This record gives sequence, C-alpha cells and structure tokens, in this order.
Amino acid sequence: MSTTRHQSRALPALGEIAPDAVSRPAPGVADQDGAAPKLHVVTFGCQMNKYDSELVEGRFRKSGYVTTDRLEDADVILFNTCSVRDHAEERTWSWVGELKQAKRERPDLVVGIMGCMAQRVEEEIFKRAGHVDLVAGTRQFHLLPAMVEELKARRAEPDRFRAKDLRLLATDMAEDVPVDRSGEEYTGGLHAHLAVMRGCDLSCTYCVVPTTRGRVRSRPIEELVAEARWYVSQGVQVLTLLGQTVNSYGEDFPAPQVGPAPEAGAARWTGRQGRPSLADLLRALQEVDGLVRIRLITLHPSYVTRALAEAIRDCDKVDRFLPLPAQAGSDDVLRRMKRGYTLDLYRERVGLLREVVPDIELGSDWIVGFCGETDADFEGSLAFLEEQGFVLNYIFKYSPRPNTRAAERYEDDVAEDTKKARHKRLLEVAERTQRARLQRYRGRELRAFIESVSERDGRILLGRTHHGLPVSLQGPAELVGTTVHLRVEETTAYGMAATLARGPARIGLHSAASEALGGQ
Ligand code: 5AD
Ligand code: SF4
Repeated sequence: MSTTRHQSRALPALGEIAPDAVSRPAPGVADQDGAAPKLHVVTFGCQMNKYDSELVEGRFRKSGYVTTDRLEDADVILFNTCSVRDHAEERTWSWVGELKQAKRERPDLVVGIMGCMAQRVEEEIFKRAGHVDLVAGTRQFHLLPAMVEELKARRAEPDRFRAKDLRLLATDMAEDVPVDRSGEEYTGGLHAHLAVMRGCDLSCTYCVVPTTRGRVRSRPIEELVAEARWYVSQGVQVLTLLGQTVNSYGEDFPAPQVGPAPEAGAARWTGRQGRPSLADLLRALQEVDGLVRIRLITLHPSYVTRALAEAIRDCDKVDRFLPLPAQAGSDDVLRRMKRGYTLDLYRERVGLLREVVPDIELGSDWIVGFCGETDADFEGSLAFLEEQGFVLNYIFKYSPRPNTRAAERYEDDVAEDTKKARHKRLLEVAERTQRARLQRYRGRELRAFIESVSERDGRILLGRTHHGLPVSLQGPAELVGTTVHLRVEETTAYGMAATLARGPARIGLHSAASEALGGQ
C-alpha cells in the first residue's frame, strides 16, 4: 500500500440535500450568523485512514457541519495520520506546523489530530504543537464531534477552564468503533471502502501498526452486508474490503458452540473451528444485488486457505488480484521480521491459490535495507519478485519505528545510500517484471469495469480488468459504471490501453460467470 494524502471535498450539509431526512445544525453548533460550521480533513496514509476519514466526515455532517475543500475556510481542521514510516509522520508535523499562524489569527479555529500518530504520540502532540486542541486515537475518532462541542463549551467559559483544560485527548484502545451510516449520504461515487476488521494480531518486528491499531476486532458478516447494501443504495458498485490482514477476518470471533448439525441449506462457516471467515464474507457479499466488483486489501500468506481460494473462484464479483506482501526474499530476513513464513511456505500458499484460481494476479510490498540485510539477502528479493511475477509492487526503505521489536533489538545497520541503491534496483526489476506480466495480455479480449472519465482527457475512460489491472480506452462517458469487453492494444509496467471490442457487456459481471474470459 502506498502512502498518500487526500483532502475533504466540498459537500453541502445533509440538511441542504434532503430537507426531510435531515439533522439541522445541532443546537449550539451553528455559527452566530446561523451558517453551518465547516470541516476540512487532511488524510495521510493507507486506505483504512481514508475510510475512517469518511466516517468522521459523515458524523460531523450528521451534527450539522458541512465539509469544505478549502482548508482556509474551515472552522475545524482534522489530520488523519500515519505512523508506518518516519517520513509519513514528518509530513504531518510540517502540515500541522503550517497552521500555527492561522490559529493565532483565528483563535476559534479547532485543530485535531486523529489516526495512528495520535495513538502513538498521544499527549506529546500538545507539547510539540501547542496549537493542537484535540487528539483522538484509532478507536476514538467517532467521539470527535462531541469533543469539538465540549471544547467550544469550555472556551465559552474562560474563567472556569485553564489552558490545559482546553486540550482534549481520547486514546483509549478498548472500544470498538461504532459504525452507523444510516441517514448519511455517500458522495464518493462508484467506489467505496469497507473496513471489515480493525487492528492486527501479528507482530512483524518492523511494524508500528499493532501498537497504533490494537488487537483485531472483526465486524459481524450481517453488519458488513448491511453497510454494503447501504453503499449500493448510494450508487456504489465497487467495494474494497479493508483489513491489515484481511484474510484473517473472523479469527477473533469466539468459536461457535458445538451443537446439532446445521440443517440442510443453513450456513456452515469455513473458518477455524467453524468460525465465519473471509471466504464466507465474500460469498455473502456476492449475493448483494447491485454490487459489481469486490476487492481486497491486504492479505497475509499465513491465512491463505483453500476455502478462500474456492470463494474467489466461485464469486465472480471478486477481482482476480490479491495484494499478498512478501516483504523480503530471504528466509533469514523473514525470520528477523517475524513474518511467520518461509519462502517455501509462501510458494506453497501461492501454489494453492493458482491451483484453484489459475489466472490470479498478485501484488507485493517490499522492505529493503531491513536490519542485517546482506547483499545476498537482497539478491533474494530481486529473484523472488521475478520468480513470482508480481504485477504490482510497492517498495519501501526500512524506517525504524519507536517501540517496535526491530528498533529495540536490531541495529539499523544498512547505510542510507545502500537502502537507496537497493530501492532503485528492486524498482527496476519490479518494472521489468510488471511489464512482462502485463505484456501477456496484449491482443487478448478481456472484460473490464469502467470507473471514471480521465481528468486529463475527457475522451478517455479509466477502468480495471477482472484482474484488478488499470486500463484506459477511448469511449463515451455513458460507459462509466458498466462492464465492457475490450481488446488490449498496448501495455506498460503500470497498466494497459485498450479498444472497445464488442461494446458494453449487456450482462453484469456477476451474472457472467459462464462467459469465457476471452482466453484469460
Ligand atoms: N519501514 C519501512 N516500511 C514499512 N512497512 C511497514 N513498516 C515499515 C517500516 N518500519 C511497509 C510494509 C507494509 C507497508 C504498508 O509498509 O511493506 O506492507
Ligand atoms: Fe504490520 Fe505485520 Fe500486521 Fe501487516 S501483518 S499490519 S506488517 S504487524
């Protein structure tokens, strides 16, 4: 997964969209002139953060706020932060720092920090950035609207509250994050994210996530199906299911009581000791009418099972693409990373996937320059990337993170120059491999779901093939939201260009299981 930044887009308040279904600005929320207060969220990091930012924006809108795309206009500015590498945190500090002057000029402004950095740094944030008012951890951000109101109430009574009482912190890890999107409008278009679980129960030695996101809590299948239906009712056709190790979904549920055998036709879960698993969730989502594509981020090799492979095979809404990070191509490095597999075990799991779904494509994340990584270890990564033919690769230089096992136990002994050189070499091999992998599709007919019109050129449509591969083609905007047959004309290391082969597919992908995939 790459680290990116996203910002709020301007949206009207719920009240302005649907007068009957609305929450008007809650008492005390509206400005003196009656205008709805404005929220701007800057999101760093992974897709999970994007999802959380959407939830926060939804909650604020329900409390009478509008979102604005202009940071300067906002009454409340929130940063949803990432801690996975030092660089991500430094970028956040510099953005937050930029607001110091604005806060001096507009003391009413509310500045809040949420997400992984909030969870990791907690009240130290107030020390380093005195103009920050709110800090909400990865399982407390739903409280933010109430925290803002509390802050405003305290500010209104300067005699009662001292400066330190005007900073609010909520970083408790215990709670689930309640998700209630009823009455909300989804304005993100055809595509949406759905966090099926939170946290991570593994302990990869380089990774800060288990400390910032806590232990795994999977959400019940019925709740996820309900959220998927809500999304579809809002126009969504493509859902990306999110989890730090999304294929460990359900492992944290209590094992079902052993009872009488389920009646014929009743659900029989496929997870460990009869728990619901990702395979079961995929099968349930396959049945959601109107949902066309289902994607997954991110899998872990240890939880690849035959049941999962079979669910992907049987559910034609599920993309034949899995991000399955290898991280390194040396057993020694993998052991020090505590990844829980060897290269052979990884090969075995991929063998299982390919046996059941022969045309599956895989992506990987890589860390170069991890503690003790020798030239020979690194050569292993080059070789493994090529051997597995990963079609999408994200490559990172190792960045020691506070309170991780690697930072505490191992020396960060690969020189920065060496990390840079290895990053460059691995990227070259990745591009060569991706190019070769994508070239195999040249001249073939495929089906693709068209997602948008290119922002750069209104004649170009952008979509993804059944294998999750980006494709561009010339065609009318009406094809957005439909499945088309196309012929791949050209490929690069990052995607393909195609022409329409037979016009729009008249059937939805979900009902097209029996249709040949153009020789894929
Ligand atoms: N340094 C560099 N990269 C890291 N990742 C996670 N922790 C670190 C770290 N300390 C990478 C892994 C992970 C991706 C999201 O970020 O490759 O899969
Ligand atoms: Fe971090 Fe490992 Fe969990 Fe991924 S699986 S979030 S790398 S600890």
